[in-house]
Amino acid sequence: MKNPQIKNYTVKPASSLKGTIQIPGDKSISHRALILASLAEGVSKIRHLLLAQDVLATMRILQQLGVRMSHTPEELQIGDELKIYGEGLHALKGASGILDCGNSGTTLRLMMGLLSAHSFEATLTGDASLNKRPVDRVAKPLEKMGGGFAITYDRKGKRFIKSCNVKKIYGGMGHQLPVASAQVKSAIMLAALYGTESTTIIEPALSRDHTERMMSAMGVHIEREGTTTEIFPPKKMNPIDLTIPGDLSSASFFIVGSLILPGSEIKLTSVGLNPSRSAIIRVLMDMGGKIEIENYRTVAGEISGDLICRASPLTGFNIGGALIPNIIDEIPIFSIAASVAQGTSKVSDASELRVKESDRIKTMVQELSKIGVSIKECDDGFEISGGYPFKEGTYSSQGDHRVAMSMAIAALRAPQPSVIEDVECVNTSFPSFFGILEKLSSKSSG
Ligand code: S3P
Repeated sequence: MKNPQIKNYTVKPASSLKGTIQIPGDKSISHRALILASLAEGVSKIRHLLLAQDVLATMRILQQLGVRMSHTPEELQIGDELKIYGEGLHALKGASGILDCGNSGTTLRLMMGLLSAHSFEATLTGDASLNKRPVDRVAKPLEKMGGGFAITYDRKGKRFIKSCNVKKIYGGMGHQLPVASAQVKSAIMLAALYGTESTTIIEPALSRDHTERMMSAMGVHIEREGTTTEIFPPKKMNPIDLTIPGDLSSASFFIVGSLILPGSEIKLTSVGLNPSRSAIIRVLMDMGGKIEIENYRTVAGEISGDLICRASPLTGFNIGGALIPNIIDEIPIFSIAASVAQGTSKVSDASELRVKESDRIKTMVQELSKIGVSIKECDDGFEISGGYPFKEGTYSSQGDHRVAMSMAIAALRAPQPSVIEDVECVNTSFPSFFGILEKLSSKSSG
């Protein structure tokens, strides 16, 4: 079920969402599984890897660095088990060519961490959106640890980040992060695997902890207390055997779709429920969303379960503070739930949204205003007065996958078909999104 290679997509109104779906693998866990298995000693087996452009960029780069895998990114099919033949922490061979991260911030930041601990030179680049996203927050702590980066731009503004000349990665340091970012934390953790001593990271609020959980499952000694994480450099890492849970961020589009369309009932199987990033479920339940969770399981330290979601009247809700890193990727789809909910909702302390694949405060304010929502932009978020009907129209993804999918879900409630422009970006995280949307949608009688 791949999205058609089309530029624009027409969303037909739907009266409800109904059916059972397995959501594709978690994007954050997929990146980490590829990278950490490449550094393990032995054969790792990974199932339900997300086959989306961002993750395939990480896979391609690891292969350019000499990591052997059972499939190339082009060969890998849904249902395949990927084998990664890890040869240990010191087996990367140096890069063949430029390493292209495409649109993927996670690929870029995590690869900067890994490459900073290697003595060969390697150059990372990405697409126009990624070129503009901040990397100082990663480069600075890595340079403090002994890594080195040279950042240049070509005449078209394309950015090249060359990691170079590392002699040693110094441990024994405490890194106080100015923003709660799992990408920054994970980049430091990857470099810290090579440290002379342990490395401590202190976050202002807890960001998603997939790296901590996976490294621990692979035998790395990690101590955690509150928002402080200490990593002790291992002699080796054990391989993993992992079935990646479904991506809760992807599931959220259909969870909200089912809550806001009367008569809906959907079941999403094996969805990741890691507590450091499942605030969207708690928030939607607090808004009145009928969401049941059954069949809890834990694999490699990651919790998952089946979600049953039913149409529900929603009331407005405010989010801010330490909750924000836990719900950061779901704020665009939260804004759709808030727009349907009775009463007001406010998002604060979320200025990180401005440096995502698009400025998500601005893009959501623009697109939601077009669809008829009363929304006011703030520096660090927005305020919505919910309960107004949505209008059909032409909405733009503004090149951002989560904006495209959020607007597609909103358009299901419009009285007539709507067009979402520039939807190719959906392939970065959720290539089967429109196929699943069509499968779950019951036609509107209106
Ligand atoms: C991610 C961390 C978050 C999130 C991104 C994925 C990760 O970014 O928004 O989609 O896999 O580590 P930040 O670390 O920049 O907050």
